Amino acid sequence: PAEDEARIDEIKRLLEERNAVLVAHYYTDDAIQQLAEETGGCVADSLEMARFGARHEAATLVVAGVRFMGETAKILSPEKRVLMPTLEATCSLDIGCPADAFAAFCDQHPERTVVVYANTSAAVKARADWVVTSSIAVDVIEHLQARGEKILWAPDKHLGGYIQHKTGADMLLWDGACIVHDEFKAKGINDLKALYPDAAVLVHPESPAPVVEIADVVGSTSQLINAARELPQQRLIVATDRGIFFKMQQAVPGKTLFEAPTAGNGATCKSCAHCPWMAMNALDNLAGALRDYSGEVFVDDALRLEALKPLERMLNFQR
Ligand code: 13P
Ligand code: SF4
Repeated sequence: PAEDEARIDEIKRLLEERNAVLVAHYYTDDAIQQLAEETGGCVADSLEMARFGARHEAATLVVAGVRFMGETAKILSPEKRVLMPTLEATCSLDIGCPADAFAAFCDQHPERTVVVYANTSAAVKARADWVVTSSIAVDVIEHLQARGEKILWAPDKHLGGYIQHKTGADMLLWDGACIVHDEFKAKGINDLKALYPDAAVLVHPESPAPVVEIADVVGSTSQLINAARELPQQRLIVATDRGIFFKMQQAVPGKTLFEAPTAGNGATCKSCAHCPWMAMNALDNLAGALRDYSGEVFVDDALRLEALKPLERMLNFQR
């Protein structure tokens, strides 16, 4: 539509005027991902978003994603202005792990190394020894396990359970879940596989264990896109937010991609997965953030310094 074109032009102009770069997650709208790509920004998983923002020389980072991604950018680059299209875009994992209850949980288990998923508030990160994203979670836990450490893990019980199963590490799990991935059902995916037995199943590890069990590949959003490229199969069933299809289809233009059904009772996609908070990012509020610096992210200084330590450990971690 013409008004979208006008907004896109305005955003491009403002990005230049403000010396700003757009960092977008794969789950945001296609138009936002396209803009990030066209303007020298990046479209990435949460670890790559953090790395890109920390290294980029722009004075302003515009983070299109959810709140923890903007906070992470600010913690890593306090000298930069960090803007988000909306500060209301949260995450069910973040909501389900309040800092005070989490601190009490940690206090009860002082002998354990505290590892938290990136999908948490700055206050929860401040209490952690390590922050990880789904792309390096297994590697970090293997490393800690080899040092004989017992783990306290939060907040995603599915990702935690998957890592525990894969590594055999001693992990105490917080009881949190992603409301989007929690909806995938193995039955729906198996029904689709019955129709297309040659299809490969790609799953984000925030999905429940029965779904992870039937996966050919389990990985972060970037890892799933890479797998789509590398797998020999021409049909792919993908269990993660539908936003990923924009870049995944570009990566494999000749392959057929299926959204894993969330209903569990049919082979067709009756209600597909889409994160309500990622969906809050739009061209209008993105332009607004750049125009009047609304949606600026601030992190309390003392908290920032505490949260920086486990985040830097994550960024410096080599397999
Ligand atoms: P990735 O690190 O795989 O991009 O995951 C972030 C996320 O919020 C998935 O729901
Ligand atoms: Fe959080 Fe799930 Fe949305 Fe990712 S998809 S931001 S984990 S609610």
